[in-house]
Amino acid sequence: MKALILSGGKGTRLRPLTYTGAKQLVPVANKPILWYGIESIVAAGITDIGIIISPQTGDEVRSKTGSGDRFGAQITYILQEEAAGLAHAVKIAQPFLGDAPFIMYLGDNLIQNELQGFLNRFKSQHLDSLILLRSVKNPSAFGVAEVDAAGRVLRLVEKPAQPASNLALVGVYFFNDSIHDAIANIQPSARGELEITDAIQYLIDQQRAVEACTLDGWWLDTGKKDDLLEANRIILDTKLHHSEVLGTIDESSKIIGRVQIGANSEIRHCTIRGPVIIGENCHLENCFIGPYSSIANGVKLVDVDLDHSVILQGATVTGIHQRIVDSVIGQRVQLCVAERRPKAVRFMVGDDSQIELV
Ligand code: DAU
Repeated sequence: MKALILSGGKGTRLRPLTYTGAKQLVPVANKPILWYGIESIVAAGITDIGIIISPQTGDEVRSKTGSGDRFGAQITYILQEEAAGLAHAVKIAQPFLGDAPFIMYLGDNLIQNELQGFLNRFKSQHLDSLILLRSVKNPSAFGVAEVDAAGRVLRLVEKPAQPASNLALVGVYFFNDSIHDAIANIQPSARGELEITDAIQYLIDQQRAVEACTLDGWWLDTGKKDDLLEANRIILDTKLHHSEVLGTIDESSKIIGRVQIGANSEIRHCTIRGPVIIGENCHLENCFIGPYSSIANGVKLVDVDLDHSVILQGATVTGIHQRIVDSVIGQRVQLCVAERRPKAVRFMVGDDSQIELV
């Protein structure tokens, strides 16, 4: 059994963060989204992993994630020259996959369930494909499945305007080698991509054994800001089990609940109410940091009141006296107050940024 993780693509929905980096490397609780997928694949006993990368962000994905040693896996990077679709990614990975059965995992998806149970079912029932479904409020944004009363998959449609159900395809799929023949027999969709949804539909049309499981745990497709904040909240809630302080905290600071603070970080005159994770080499002074906040390495916060937010590497925020909530602040961003009592705001904001004064 092998695994194929898709970490290429264009990443347009998380702009502007993804102008300067891969969307799969955007951190959730200070760890790249992609790494959660690798960890759950390894936890299911699969260590031979291929990762699809793009020319734009491939070097960054490769240099950050490495050979797989840190996960106890062996990673092979596969360059996809163009984001020509999920099925296209499988096609170019065929030399790596050979005729092995495999899990295909979309690198921007996070699921709560362990993979082992699904894997056992896929193997023991000798399925050609096992797909995972989850009911969602906005099925038109996903691949949508129509299933019969017995739970058999009848039809799959990619991002339908009129969805036949509210069951979305989750970005984790199990295939045997019959998927390669299916992909060879489909044509690019109206949006010009070779769709995995169409390839699975081909298997269904050929009376192959395609079954679906419905997810009961949470599933997050971290494509947009609010999804990212929600993923951050859930991961901090469920995976940050204990407090750990490697940096220094002065006597006037108060730490409440589960809080992790990385090496060489300095906390002065702050109140931090967990769950909160703070990376290495950060400087926090006169701050209130509220629950569900993740602060990456090298961040400086002075005179800041922050809650339910994600601050990326190297950002500096000083003297903003309004509470910062539900925010994602990108790498190396600088937010500061120039005058003591500001009467105007002055912006230098990148393309596609969103600022809301509430
Ligand atoms: O998240 C679940 C959804 O994922 C499913 O419900 C849909 O059926 C499926 O098509 C997919 O839809 P998205 O629009 O979310 O796919 P996206 O373009 O965001 O790509 C998903 C991942 O695959 C992402 O990490 C980028 C990567 N990718 C994408 C394409 C199109 C590649 O590596 N190569 C590609 O050519």
